[in-house]
Amino acid sequence: MNNMRHMMNPLDFTVDELEALFDVANDIESNMEAYSHKCDGKILATCFYEPSTRTRLSFETAMLRLGGKTLGFADASNSSAAKGESVADTIRVISCFADICAMRHPKEGAPMVAASKSSIPVINAGDGGHQHPTQTLTDLLTIRSLYGSLSNFTIGLCGDLKFGRTVHSLINALTRYEGIHFVFVSPKELRVPDYITEMLDSKGITYEEVIKLEDVIGKLDFLYMTRVQKERFFNEEDYIRLKNFYILDKAKMELAKEKMFILHPLPRVNEISVEVDSDPRAAYFKQVQYGLYVRMALILTLLDMTDAHMNEGLLRKF
Ligand code: CP
Repeated sequence: MNNMRHMMNPLDFTVDELEALFDVANDIESNMEAYSHKCDGKILATCFYEPSTRTRLSFETAMLRLGGKTLGFADASNSSAAKGESVADTIRVISCFADICAMRHPKEGAPMVAASKSSIPVINAGDGGHQHPTQTLTDLLTIRSLYGSLSNFTIGLCGDLKFGRTVHSLINALTRYEGIHFVFVSPKELRVPDYITEMLDSKGITYEEVIKLEDVIGKLDFLYMTRVQKERFFNEEDYIRLKNFYILDKAKMELAKEKMFILHPLPRVNEISVEVDSDPRAAYFKQVQYGLYVRMALILTLLDMTDAHMNEGLLRKF
């Protein structure tokens, strides 16, 4: 394959390339049927060394909706990883079977190692506390679709900002757009890492850090809630102490703007009360739907099949 590309980090694509990708995703949203044979004969492998519902199933649905097929494992204990096979060897094997691979791994950098040994495109479907690029693409598409733009808004990120890879990926991605103000809401133990605030400082991007959500919710255009990441804690005691630190409920939503959208990468535990689900500002299940469209668009793009399916208007953007 010529010019083979992987997706390790949302910054792997330029802002213009992302705009084109999102245009394709929105076109898929409106014309799903027109895409139903674009990947006839193609195979997606999903190699998940860590639990997942949305990411794995949306990748598989994406390929099935494009007319392709899927294979893979959802539990590394059922793969030869349990016998000691390296990620590098596994991807060499998968390259013999599939046309594209989505990989989730608990170790930061593992999908990058796979990409370096692969002869097919590899998509990082989440690596430890590091990056979750396709969640970020989902988040950006959701924001663009709901707000009409990826510029000039205030976004609050609330919860586990230390271990949350979706948060780290999204902040990085949003730094490329104009007029974004970040409000970080977390207990001090789960503050956003220093390397991120240092990066924001170096780029002159404004942010504030607070502990109480009630103090800032009224100024937000988006509130990105996150789960406290039990699996990344070193001890159970700290997790139990912090797990219910934030619970977004109807009372707090009364302090928010009429058009403040709530996002969440999901899964949710307790941090958003189910009573909020019926609020028209709750966008987290719509976000899951956008995740399907953007993964379909990404598969087409990485398989270099965009020319084959795009309409003239979209084609000119590439
Ligand atoms: N948002 C997300 O990554 O969900 P899963 O862990 O269920 O894939």
